[in-house]
Amino acid sequence: MTGMPGKLPREAQADPVIELRGLHAWYGESHVLHGVDLHVNRAEVVTLLGRNGAGRTSTLRAMMGLTGTRKGSIRIRGVETIGLPTRRIAHLGVGYCPEERGIFASLSAEENLLLPPVVSPDGRGMPLERIHALFPNLRGRAAAQGTRLSGGEQQMLAIARILRAGADLLLLDEISEGLAPVIVQALARTIRALRGQGMTIVMVEQNFRFAAPISDRFYVMEGGRVVDAFAAHQLQERTPSLSARLGV
Ligand SMILES: Nc1ncnc2c1ncn2[C@@H]1O[C@H](COP(=O)(O)OP(=O)(O)OP(=O)(O)O)[C@@H](O)[C@H]1O
Ligand SMILES: [Mg+2]
Repeated sequence: MTGMPGKLPREAQADPVIELRGLHAWYGESHVLHGVDLHVNRAEVVTLLGRNGAGRTSTLRAMMGLTGTRKGSIRIRGVETIGLPTRRIAHLGVGYCPEERGIFASLSAEENLLLPPVVSPDGRGMPLERIHALFPNLRGRAAAQGTRLSGGEQQMLAIARILRAGADLLLLDEISEGLAPVIVQALARTIRALRGQGMTIVMVEQNFRFAAPISDRFYVMEGGRVVDAFAAHQLQERTPSLSARLGV
């Protein structure tokens, strides 16, 4: 894919916020990533597609330093992060929103929001006014207990929490899963707004109809490897191969 410098498309010449080269990862003895290469530029939304067990969640977890052994290279803004603990990776401005969201049931929405330490390199988290502008549904829910929030509110809170902590590289796993269409639309607007504010976003999505209109580029994974990569404008020509690969 990387040819002569003069022939690279503009995006490929941009400085990547995160770049994986030959990434291998294991859970104990189980070798789950087999040489993943990908990069994401600033203010890009990139979606990892694939069937169940393709290695998409493991790729996000490896970026965050949450798998077992990792080999190869994961550079975040030029810093090699293989061998760094999760806490150090977070302090590079990386926020991970796991599929299970991790909202604390016994805490209020506000306590959930303010719990994580600020990790941004400049020591500043996102102000609450900006959070509420992005997630109007959370406004007025500050005192609500974690368990009293709807699925959509919990998902928004989980994203708001990593923004509040100051992350600007967001790793989002299946955020649309199980949510009503109107909430999924609101999430799509939020992702667009975040991109407009310069956030860099890596998503794992099963919901292709949600991901397709908001993503700049896509990687398709299979068996712990990247098997295809394409940009939004190539989506139509890729549809036949995607249906075969993903069953969408
Ligand atoms: N904690 C774990 N221990 C051992 N193996 C794991 C663990 N988590 C995932 N795996 C294995 O790693 C492989 C990749 O799984 P991963 O969760 O990354 O896939 P995925 O693309 O996110 O798919 P999905 O979320 O649809 O299951 C699978 O074979 C899975 O069984
Ligand atoms: Mg997964």
